[in-house]
Amino acid sequence: MAKAKTMFFCSDCGGSSAKWFGRCPHCGAWNTAVEEVAPDSGGGKPGQVQMAAVKPQPLNKLAVDKCPRYTLGMAELDNVLGGGLHAEGSLLLGGEPGIGKSTLLLQAAQAAAKYGQVLYISGEESAQQIAERALRLNVMCDNVYLLAQTDITAALQQAAELTPALIIIDSVQAAYVPELDSAAGSVPQVRAVAAAAIAFARLKRCALMLIGHVTKEGQLAGPRILEHMVDTVLYFEGERYNSLRLLRAIKNRFGSTNEIGVFEMGEMGLQPLSSPSAYFLQQRQSRISGSAVACVMQGSRPLLVEAQALVAPSSFANPRRQALGFDYSRLLMIIAVLERKLGLPLGNRDVYLNIAGGLRVDDPAADLAAAAAIVSSFKDQALEDNILLLGEIGLLGELRSIGQEEKRLKEAAAFGFKAAVVPPGKRAPSTRAAALKRLETADLAQALRVLSLSG
Ligand code: TYD
Ligand code: MG
Repeated sequence: MAKAKTMFFCSDCGGSSAKWFGRCPHCGAWNTAVEEVAPDSGGGKPGQVQMAAVKPQPLNKLAVDKCPRYTLGMAELDNVLGGGLHAEGSLLLGGEPGIGKSTLLLQAAQAAAKYGQVLYISGEESAQQIAERALRLNVMCDNVYLLAQTDITAALQQAAELTPALIIIDSVQAAYVPELDSAAGSVPQVRAVAAAAIAFARLKRCALMLIGHVTKEGQLAGPRILEHMVDTVLYFEGERYNSLRLLRAIKNRFGSTNEIGVFEMGEMGLQPLSSPSAYFLQQRQSRISGSAVACVMQGSRPLLVEAQALVAPSSFANPRRQALGFDYSRLLMIIAVLERKLGLPLGNRDVYLNIAGGLRVDDPAADLAAAAAIVSSFKDQALEDNILLLGEIGLLGELRSIGQEEKRLKEAAAFGFKAAVVPPGKRAPSTRAAALKRLETADLAQALRVLSLSG
């Protein structure tokens, strides 16, 4: 018998090559080559034009019947989807193992059941295990069907017996197509499983949700190739030992990718957090040194977060600098500016910076709050309680303007903040967020004077 032909696939982009490669010729990633049995190319020479039965039509003559949306019972989820799940759309939900993908979609299954039958195909857990979880989550309705099956062809045959409004596949890495020799979870398998499910959902005109695990580097393991096969790609993020979960749209054919959903994982599954700012500030103590509040944008949403700093004498030759939820190199930059521009002697002190609540902040508008928290801890002197700090710090110690200031000030005003230290505005500040006093400061030194932290 002839030896099966193998090829090398990039586990990142799915690109193929007949020869082994150290660096992917398609996407340039290193060490991503995996050897797989070459999938049957299915006849036809590459590039050969197939005679299509479908004719081009003038755009303005096309009859448009707007596809309905399924609302999934949680506003945080529906908003990220751009107003509910498209009734004929396909979605990929990515996230690290254990983050709560199965939980989220099981909860969504219950809400979708009011539109028709929902089939949950699980390759990861047995029907018994899912039933137990469903019981705990209170997901109990007639229209949700469970199928524990890893063979996707057999699963879709079963699905054809129903008239599903929604099919959920948990997960694309666990399912396999029996025609392919390669192992479940390999690039050709993942691609084939997704293609089969998408084709079936199109035929049945139902919605499809695929769950995909991501690797430690934050990429959908192998199936980054899936991102362009589906209409919507959502990522579920969070720290495993923290209950905060963020849902982000990476791609959305039916809405913007600017929205995020915020959830808390609890005893009863995922609870939407409609007011995340309240969650981030809930444990904030008043009048304590080393704490400052900033307002960061996550998508189009302003969130109030507390920056906490601890400055302590160092017993190391190289003092420690540690950032949690904050960019490490930005922290080093802020420390350098504080040392050089304000003469703060941090060279023999350890500096720890943490964003309370488990959020990862990459909005430079939080720079000023981080700097003020460090100075406040250094001097052991607390800031006023109801003051918001906004501004990006430049290398010269200047405060640079930030986007969407008004939205941020409004959010702070709603939480009872009385004043905000902000960079100089381009426009006259007169009518903005009236409830809040705007204190414009040109540089870090001036901001610290306003906060009574200088000297
Ligand atoms: P799960 O949905 O299985 O994650 P994934 O499908 O992304 O791998 O959720 C995993 C974790 O969530 C599990 O460690 C326990 C926790 N969890 C809760 O804290 N509360 C709950 O109600 C549920 C269902 C899970
Ligand atoms: Mg799971």
